[in-house]
Amino acid sequence: MPFGSFKGALQDGLKHGYAVGQFNINNLEFTQAIVEVANEEGSPVILGASEGAIKYMGIEYMAAIAKAAAEKSKVPVILHLDHGGSFEMVMKCLRHGWTSIMIDGSHHPFDENVALTKKVVEACHALGVHVEGELGRIGGVEDDLTVDAREAALVQPGEAVAFVQATGIDALAPAIGSAHGHYQGKPDLAFDRLREVRDLTGLPLVLHGGTGIPDEDIRQAIRLGVSKINVNTENQSAFTDAIRAVFAKDQAVYDPRKYLGPAREAIKDAVRAKIRLFGSAGRG
Ligand code: G3H
Ligand code: ZN
Repeated sequence: MPFGSFKGALQDGLKHGYAVGQFNINNLEFTQAIVEVANEEGSPVILGASEGAIKYMGIEYMAAIAKAAAEKSKVPVILHLDHGGSFEMVMKCLRHGWTSIMIDGSHHPFDENVALTKKVVEACHALGVHVEGELGRIGGVEDDLTVDAREAALVQPGEAVAFVQATGIDALAPAIGSAHGHYQGKPDLAFDRLREVRDLTGLPLVLHGGTGIPDEDIRQAIRLGVSKINVNTENQSAFTDAIRAVFAKDQAVYDPRKYLGPAREAIKDAVRAKIRLFGSAGRG
């Protein structure tokens, strides 16, 4: 089928209390594994395309691979720009058939984030393309924030209302203390902020940095309005660990299919567990 509706999938998740997984794609095997397991689980799925991955794969290849996977799929597959940093990047993706976009203006002052996000929403909505915006700062685990810096990075609920009203976004990624990469300790999510943002905006909310968040925290986030959860690092680690295991057993392997095949299977296992945890199985 053609690419699915981003807004439709997230609104359905919000209504029925589940989250749709965004799994980032880094190559052909990631794309195949994610879409195959989504079909096996009967779950809608979002393919996350970061600017780095687009650069690595080449935008034409990425678009063609994602399109082929969606066309083969019996469940909705959505191709989503992840952390898009500029209007130009958004335009590039739209020209290549993307049907949903994340514009991440969170590194700009609030007013500039509003202006950039609004401009993107106007262009995207004119084409029927949906938009996710970000507020507060979702950093990396390496950022190791002090208490004050953490507080400064968290979403301000009052700003969230103003941001949503001024921009017209379809989904909001509020910074609530999650981070990209492997957490060193237990992540400390600001659930009160999440609840407040949900109550004030009513929008589907997005949780970034899904790798390593305990299952119970994931369930709580979904109960508090999260209907999209992003995962990348966990799949990257599963993929690479499987390749390491092949070579640990036999250093003489030279056929890429002999290590990329097991790596693809490893991603399938990781994604299946997340789809079940997020509650999206059977919702496709
Ligand atoms: O936007 C992508 C995600 O937030 C992925 O985060 O690599 O920590 O799973 P992660
Ligand atoms: Zn992210």
